[in-house]
Amino acid sequence: MIFELSEEHLAVKEAAREFAQKILKPGVIERDSKMLYPTDEVRQMGELGFLGMMVSPEYGGGGMDSVSYVLAMEEISKVDNSCSVIMSVNNSLVCWGLETFGTEEQKQKYLPKLASGEWIGSFCLSEPEAGSDATSQRTTAVDMGDHYLLSGTKNWITSGGTSSLHLVIAQTDPEKGHHGINAFIVESSWDGVEVGAKEDKLGIRSSDTHTIMYTDVKVPKENRIGEDGFGFKFAMKTLSGGRIGIAAQALGIAGGAYELALAYSKEREAFGKPISKHQAIAFKLADMATDIEAAKMLVYRAAWLKDQHLDYNQASAMAKLFASEVAMKHTVEAVQIHGGYGFVKEYHVERLMRDAKITQIYEGTSEVQRIVISRGVLQGQLYVPVAGSAAVEGG
Ligand code: CAA
Repeated sequence: MIFELSEEHLAVKEAAREFAQKILKPGVIERDSKMLYPTDEVRQMGELGFLGMMVSPEYGGGGMDSVSYVLAMEEISKVDNSCSVIMSVNNSLVCWGLETFGTEEQKQKYLPKLASGEWIGSFCLSEPEAGSDATSQRTTAVDMGDHYLLSGTKNWITSGGTSSLHLVIAQTDPEKGHHGINAFIVESSWDGVEVGAKEDKLGIRSSDTHTIMYTDVKVPKENRIGEDGFGFKFAMKTLSGGRIGIAAQALGIAGGAYELALAYSKEREAFGKPISKHQAIAFKLADMATDIEAAKMLVYRAAWLKDQHLDYNQASAMAKLFASEVAMKHTVEAVQIHGGYGFVKEYHVERLMRDAKITQIYEGTSEVQRIVISRGVLQGQLYVPVAGSAAVEGG
């Protein structure tokens, strides 16, 4: 086994760190407080190639592997999780889903715009009454011959107010249950697409999360993704990779809080010495470091499995479950180490603590990850790939 990052990986990690610390950090508190969408920062992420990292160069992307993507997500998430969720949805749900399962025409038409950040993408699965129970889709798409008529409401849509392209999951044949679900590429400028108010959230406050209403939206047949009835599998396979991105976000949140707590504990003195020299604080730092290293192994391994075209469904669920629990637990500890200063915005850790919560909820709650993991456990799945393991198509 080789636990080593390549020179290229380290260069990506360093570039993302520099961008996060120099460009994102100065305005992040104000953007969070005032719920200001990071327009300029997202534009720069596009210019630097962070929005289409894994997209093939022939479609305008960076052609990088998932490990590179995870490293960039981790560094950006140490600072600004509104930017990193926009990045994650665009990369691993929208671009990856389109490139893996789209037609050549769909890829040529949409990927260059998405990979450059000229367009931002949204992934529209959740509904007011279909969150974890994702097969209960009420949004319908009626087959009208050369097009579908799409109607329904989607909830909690990241980049809902700013995205130009929506991947929308809808029921086309209720009698077939989840085999009668399809995924569609919908442009937000089309007639019948209406965006609701921006949600006022606990964390990731400057990303724009909206409800989107579709009323008799005419979707051309060529904008369906995959064979008729492929939509639910498309959503599950795509989310399986998306969860690696959110796991990396959680890892970054935990790592960012740890870095801040470590630095503060070396500066702040109490009872005649830096608080890091008190066992009460030193042991907290030890626990944080250990859990973060463990999360890192799960997250990097899930990305590596994906890069090797090996089954990563279980691994991504484990990575997201564990990393998000570590993020929540240790951002609370980082605030505690900062004492009263941790409770005010200026020291950044309270924001990371608020941001951590959503990583246990979106792209499948911790409970959903446990469903995925336990099903694999009961089927006796192995977690250490052995030479000659079968490759999988799209997870
Ligand atoms: N890959 C391929 N196929 C899969 C799959 C996967 N990873 N997971 C399930 N499937 C297939 C199953 O094989 C089954 O197909 P067949 O009947 O042909 O065998 C079909 O999908 C239905 O699967 P289940 O019977 O397992 O379905 P279920 O109703 O028990 O649900 C679930 C399983 C794991 C709970 C699923 O519903 C789920 O993941 N729910 C959470 C949804 C979610 O993550 N939502 C997040 C919204 S997106 C978001 O947050 C974006 C954002 O903006 C940040």
